[in-house]
Amino acid sequence: MSGQEKGVPSDAELADMSQDELVRLGVQLDDVELVKYKDRWPVKGTRAEKRAERQVAAWFILAAVSGLAFIVLYVVWPWQYESPFSEGHFLYSLYTPLIGITLGLSILAVGIGVISYAKKFVPEEMAVQQRHDGGSSEVDKRTTAALLADSGQRSGLARRSLIKRTGLAGAGVFGVGLGVFALGGLVRNPWAHSDSPDSLWHTGWRSYDGEKVYLRRDTGDPHEISLVRPEDLKAGGFETVFPFRESERGDDHALFKALRKSDNPVMLIRLRPGSEPTKRKGQETFNYGDYYAYSKICTHLGCPTSLFEQQTGRLLCPCHQSQFDVVHSYAKPIFGPATRSLPQLPIMVDEDGFLVTNQDTSNQGDFIEPVGPGFWERKS
Ligand code: FES
Repeated sequence: MSGQEKGVPSDAELADMSQDELVRLGVQLDDVELVKYKDRWPVKGTRAEKRAERQVAAWFILAAVSGLAFIVLYVVWPWQYESPFSEGHFLYSLYTPLIGITLGLSILAVGIGVISYAKKFVPEEMAVQQRHDGGSSEVDKRTTAALLADSGQRSGLARRSLIKRTGLAGAGVFGVGLGVFALGGLVRNPWAHSDSPDSLWHTGWRSYDGEKVYLRRDTGDPHEISLVRPEDLKAGGFETVFPFRESERGDDHALFKALRKSDNPVMLIRLRPGSEPTKRKGQETFNYGDYYAYSKICTHLGCPTSLFEQQTGRLLCPCHQSQFDVVHSYAKPIFGPATRSLPQLPIMVDEDGFLVTNQDTSNQGDFIEPVGPGFWERKS
């Protein structure tokens, strides 16, 4: 054995050694002192061992059941917004807590199952080892692998089919649940119902069947309808408005939803006389005189752009300080992280003197571009 350390076997000798011999050799070569190393269950098949096995299995079964419940809830539970006035609100309000609880329970149960398996079946070991410099030798690698395999064998995993099966079921269902979670959002088709009020492609400002859509204030009470007339705003003033249709009067659900739908808020601005704003190509008729209406949802990350500085004609987003120039460049961002102009809502005044959307434009009175931060697969 020229060039070989004393006590270190050759490759051929290593290949001939049993797992038990490799474990002992590894311990000896590593200067490890095994203070304690014993099987948890020296006598196999006792009632206590079987009970421990069932306890571990119970955690994995719980992981599988809660993982399965998560998948079912995620797929079938009503998840689309329902206002507090609608019948479906109670079920909708349970959606997030239920998927959170079931997924959390599944993760927890897999974790506890693995820990309790290690505590109940992996050999009890206490070792003291001196640390050496440098990388591991081939002998170290082989003996360490043998030690790990030995722990697995002694813990009896191969013959504990209940734990193996439940562990696989628990971890498997949990893994599938994670996959469903990650991919589920891509499966739901945002193009579906593209002509319904719930479509992602329209806001609450779109008119169906040509019904007039008014600009209303949020008075704090959805039933108290306060429509906006041009004379309500002073020059340089602004107001947040929401859509309203006569057909929704008395419909609690629709009224509440119009005030809560995230892409509905619009900033109505009355520019000071003589501002002479630059208009966007193709949107020259979107304003009504000095009145301009822009989506209030910041095109950076969706905060409400709640401040209008009348001296400079800029809309400001308080979240990351984006500034949109309403006067000189049709709400184009001129400062901050936003990169896209705020979409403009086409407005006009009806025969009764109320501000309404202008349905002569190409999108039934709705914005003609996406509102808020861009999301995947944008249409335009
Ligand atoms: S959300 Fe408006 S600047 Fe970031």
